[in-house]
Amino acid sequence: MFASEKMLPGYDGVRPIVWEQGVLRLLDQRRLPQSHEMLELPDVAAAANAIRDMVVRGAPAIGITAAYAIVIAARARYAQDPGSWRELLQPDLELLAAARPTAVNLAWAIEQMRLVIDQVGDTDPVPLLEKRAIEIHRQDLEANYEMGRLGSQLIRNRCAVLTHCNAGALATGGYGTALGVIRSGFADGKIFMVYADETRPWLQGARLTAWELLQDRIPVTLLTEGAAATLMKQGKVDWVIVGSDRIAANGDVANKIGTYSLAVNARYHGVNFMVAAPTSTVDLSTASGADIPIEQRPASEVLSCGGQHMAASGAEAWNPVFDITPAELVDFIVTEKGIVEAPNRQKILQMMQS
Ligand code: MRU
Repeated sequence: MFASEKMLPGYDGVRPIVWEQGVLRLLDQRRLPQSHEMLELPDVAAAANAIRDMVVRGAPAIGITAAYAIVIAARARYAQDPGSWRELLQPDLELLAAARPTAVNLAWAIEQMRLVIDQVGDTDPVPLLEKRAIEIHRQDLEANYEMGRLGSQLIRNRCAVLTHCNAGALATGGYGTALGVIRSGFADGKIFMVYADETRPWLQGARLTAWELLQDRIPVTLLTEGAAATLMKQGKVDWVIVGSDRIAANGDVANKIGTYSLAVNARYHGVNFMVAAPTSTVDLSTASGADIPIEQRPASEVLSCGGQHMAASGAEAWNPVFDITPAELVDFIVTEKGIVEAPNRQKILQMMQS
């Protein structure tokens, strides 16, 4: 939350990033829902670690965190040497950019801050950088409200929806992308139940999505990823609504591992598939999903659960944490600029230029 921010009345009670009087605090998402601890990030190294170690996660939230971290870094570098702060800051930008590779919002936010860095003259850069970081945060929240409104319009009948991972307030500046649509749909009386995949290995669904929906009194039923096809076969769900870490120029969607299986299952069972993401997630410089770097995380995350080793000793594990859903399996992409039905290269470009 930032100083001038207001929450929408109803269903908008969670904020993961707090910027107050030049201090950055994050809700530690590794510990939710058992404990609600705010961590203060004193420097850029702490911010890069927080992104890599999942204190903060979700594509827009890591972009916003990086923007504030650049303000903190610039403050330190300018104090260190007002004559060469710009050069001193370069490794800090690189450190942040390397923290996680798939979410393009991270690179996007760093680029936005770099534009300001290039523009400021010889004076203290902090006021202008802080202004831009707050703007990035505020614009993300506003984009989510708009996506919520647009996405809810697509839902015609009162229904149950299925979501994956956490594309909620916790993954953004607030309100959420997929969960923003779900919040709006619930407020409009169109959604009566949210099914949430538990989302191994970090359990973003079980720990984060369930927690934040319950904070806003929205009913949630958890299931294992493997149960989703049966839920669809039984006709219990009308929409799959997910977020994204990067949307390529042709409409291919990178999101949490398991999203692709949901899309295949949704098409087979005639369930609608919606991706909600701000335009900062659309990467026109990436031609297709094949060009999106997929983060691989340590095997230990799969071999263990809740910090305890579970797998047979000696077993190896494969842990790609995102996958690519081809555009042809996506029914709708919703951004703050509008709705793209049956996305392809031309429609994505048109939406971005509108
Ligand atoms: O590994 P995570 O928890 O950062 O993965 C997050 C997701 O996959 C989200 O669905 C995505 O970032 C969209 S968040 C609005």
